Amino acid sequence: MKVVIITGSPHKNGTTAYLTEQFIKGAEEAGHEIFRFDAAAKDVHPCIACEKCHGDVPVCVFKDDMQELNPHLIEADAIVLVSPIYYYDINAQLKAVIDRFYANDAVLHGSKKAVLMVAMADDTMESAEGALASFKGMAKYLEWEIAGTVVGVNCMTPSMIKNTDYPKQAYELGKAL
Ligand SMILES: Cc1cc2nc3c(=O)[nH]c(=O)nc-3n(C[C@H](O)[C@H](O)[C@H](O)COP(=O)(O)O)c2cc1C
Repeated sequence: MKVVIITGSPHKNGTTAYLTEQFIKGAEEAGHEIFRFDAAAKDVHPCIACEKCHGDVPVCVFKDDMQELNPHLIEADAIVLVSPIYYYDINAQLKAVIDRFYANDAVLHGSKKAVLMVAMADDTMESAEGALASFKGMAKYLEWEIAGTVVGVNCMTPSMIKNTDYPKQAYELGKAL
């Protein structure tokens, strides 16, 4: 299975990077092919809704790092979104990538699995509710099958998440994909 992982965090060794590594470990052990795109280290312009991608010559006006990601997105059997929670939602770096799905909206519909993994400081689920609702809505709209979610509560720092069950959940989700 071709798996595309898109992360949002600027922390190379942060909490969600650790979840990502564990997910990849499980997925590689299961024989899946991984393409990882760390949005915070890439040049991805936010969508400006110019609609050129839906015009006579359908092409995005931005020639940035989405050009690297797009072929992998289209071919992917599974798409894994990973983000720290920033103000009750996924962060801007990941959202900018998701909004740019718009240029390939028609071909991205159907036949894909989807995963969301987030981590946050709060010790209740409340901060993740917005991100989970958006993810469920997006998966429904794009006709993607939700393969699982990992929501790391009380995980402000990598040392905190390493002492929880969440890395194991990420590993097992990758393995079971
Ligand atoms: C700008 C910003 C906003 C944040 N907002 C929230 C929030 O709304 N709820 C929460 O529980 N944690 C919040 N946090 C904490 C992060 O979600 C948490 O530290 C997370 O583990 C960081 O993940 P990372 O190390 O992968 O970047 C926020 C952190 C930052 C920097």
